[in-house]
Amino acid sequence: MEQLLVPVMCKVDKIIDETPDIRTYRLKMNDPAKMESFGWMPGQFVEFSLLGHGECTFCISSSSTRQGYFDCSIKRAGIVTADIHSQLEEGMDVGIRGPYGNWFPVDDIKGKNLLFVGGGIGLAPLRSLIQYCIDNRSDYKDFTILYGARTSSDMCYKEEIEEWKKNPSLKVILTIDKPEETWKENVGVVPKILEEVVKPGTENTKVITCGPPIMIKYTLVSLDKLGFAPKDVITTLEMKMQCGLGKCGRCNIGSTYVCKDGPVFTYEQLKSLPDEF
Ligand SMILES: Cc1cc2nc3c(=O)[nH]c(=O)nc-3n(C[C@H](O)[C@H](O)[C@H](O)COP(=O)(O)OP(=O)(O)OC[C@H]3O[C@@H](n4cnc5c(N)ncnc54)[C@H](O)[C@@H]3O)c2cc1C
Ligand code: FES
Repeated sequence: MEQLLVPVMCKVDKIIDETPDIRTYRLKMNDPAKMESFGWMPGQFVEFSLLGHGECTFCISSSSTRQGYFDCSIKRAGIVTADIHSQLEEGMDVGIRGPYGNWFPVDDIKGKNLLFVGGGIGLAPLRSLIQYCIDNRSDYKDFTILYGARTSSDMCYKEEIEEWKKNPSLKVILTIDKPEETWKENVGVVPKILEEVVKPGTENTKVITCGPPIMIKYTLVSLDKLGFAPKDVITTLEMKMQCGLGKCGRCNIGSTYVCKDGPVFTYEQLKSLPDEF
């Protein structure tokens, strides 16, 4: 986009209720030429403004390989996201700045086995990469998706996950925290299931993970136990942001600006950041 701080107007094409507190907003730029030239990579984010209410940071949860639209999946967290949920309807306009930030290293992970480990709304950035890799399937080897949520109704992208399960080239492992009468899959938190069902790490596997901080903390411990090297574990951070461009200093950890140098980092890179992380 020519002017990085000027929002581009987009229309809400469709709203999909994912869970009781997460909705996916499918967006199309009002100017079709801008939509056609809008490029992003999995892991990048936008600044999303609900006009007259405020601006929030969201990753783009779909892949640019699915053309003509882009998705933001939004969890109700506080003031602006509550207004988005209660006031934004199909056909209304929103302002979008971006895409900003770095992205998952889609070229470096070519030829590797991929293990995606997601929790809750953390599947949103992974979904963009999963769609990208599915659409370039021959570039990647074995493909495993481990996804967990507190309850079955807290799982995002339920229909798409059913499609993934039918795809013979993907292995999908689902888990919820506590048993439910009709739930036939795993029960237990993500790190526990990870240790139970995933074979110890091989040199040819890259792990891509995103979820709530507590899940990430214990997932990193489990990955370490399984023998995955920190350089092979990739995650994306959610620091509070404002400009998205490395100008305002809202998101920095020491001299690292999460909006500009991230939000995607390897675990090896995270270990070298100051303790405030
Ligand atoms: C790179 C990046 C990508 C993100 N992607 C998504 C996404 O795909 N979907 C999604 O639902 N959310 C995402 N977030 C988090 C999202 O930006 C916040 O939930 C949102 O800004 C909260 O705004 P609010 O006004 O509703 O909340 P506020 O009223 O400002 O705060 C309410 C609660 O949200 C927390 N919060 C506020 N801002 C952030 C923030 N930036 N990160 C984490 N917690 C925050 C506050 O600590 C508080 O607990 C992302 C954040 C970043 C930095
Ligand atoms: S959000 Fe402004 S410097 Fe990162």
